[in-house]
Amino acid sequence: MEIKKVTVYGAGTMGNGIAQTCAANGFDVTMVDIEQEYVDKGMAAIEKSLGRLVKKKKINKTKAGEILGRITPSTRRVYDADLVIEAIIEVEHAKRELFADLDRHCPEHTILASNTSSLPITNIASATKRPDKVIGMHFMNPVPVMKGVEIIRGEETSDETYRAVDQMAKDLGKIPGVANDFPGFIANRILMPYINEGAWSLHQGVADAANIDLIAKTCLNMPMGPLELGDLIGLDICIAIMNVMYIGLKDEKFKPCPLIEKLVKAGKLGRKTGRGFHDYRK
Ligand SMILES: NC(=O)c1ccc[n+]([C@@H]2O[C@H](COP(=O)([O-])OP(=O)(O)OC[C@H]3O[C@@H](n4cnc5c(N)ncnc54)[C@H](O)[C@@H]3O)[C@@H](O)[C@H]2O)c1
Repeated sequence: MEIKKVTVYGAGTMGNGIAQTCAANGFDVTMVDIEQEYVDKGMAAIEKSLGRLVKKKKINKTKAGEILGRITPSTRRVYDADLVIEAIIEVEHAKRELFADLDRHCPEHTILASNTSSLPITNIASATKRPDKVIGMHFMNPVPVMKGVEIIRGEETSDETYRAVDQMAKDLGKIPGVANDFPGFIANRILMPYINEGAWSLHQGVADAANIDLIAKTCLNMPMGPLELGDLIGLDICIAIMNVMYIGLKDEKFKPCPLIEKLVKAGKLGRKTGRGFHDYRK
């Protein structure tokens, strides 16, 4: 199946990165969010990201303009894509509502992919009458930079859908890997205990945030410390993922550290709100 038109739902951290990556690889993209303010913020993030690439001489200004020109922002749902990539909040009933609506209105051939970090694809697919065309397409943050894409096959995902999405990931310059449908899949099952243990170290007073990140990087050769990585992902997203694995896998090791819950309740979600484990306001 040939994919030409893509609609991305959600203009946040992941949605705007996915929209930029699709447009940079020649696809026409509509990026949908619920409020004009969020769509504007997403477009501004894309402009900023393209500006950085121009500054680094990776693309020229004309190319940056072309990429931006291929992205149509919208606050209204659109139903004309060959591939939908959903990157809205990590809340199962919100995703199920969106998928049910897309299923009702999109053409029969449209593939519905979710960028969920942890929610079972089979549950999302069961909100539609086309579970064979529902699949997980889990991009990594920041999307334009990170090479890997975790593709998750739900119980009913067809081979045809899998092949089309695997090819799409390659067309976006990514390296796809495939996982079966378990809470947290592969990437977050390995990553979240790293972030959670960093949080416990801070919570129990083992060290301050700067030293926890420093030791992870310099002694363990990690590219990012657990706390700065949690801040980059968003602590609200981390909590949601940990809870899906804690409940879904019935394993205490995924239970979120109370410090993360406290920060989220205080609105300190990480980079996107200016404060998390670290302070980004300066
Ligand atoms: N942040 C990460 O590092 C990361 C990495 C991989 C996957 N994910 C997953 O990607 C998804 C999005 O995460 P994010 O970090 O971009 O979140 P975010 O909070 O930055 O953005 C989510 C956006 O979705 C919008 N939204 C909510 N309901 C909507 C709807 N019905 N229709 C359209 N837009 C809607 C919100 O207004 C918001 O702008 C989540 O499922 C998350 O688990 C996140």
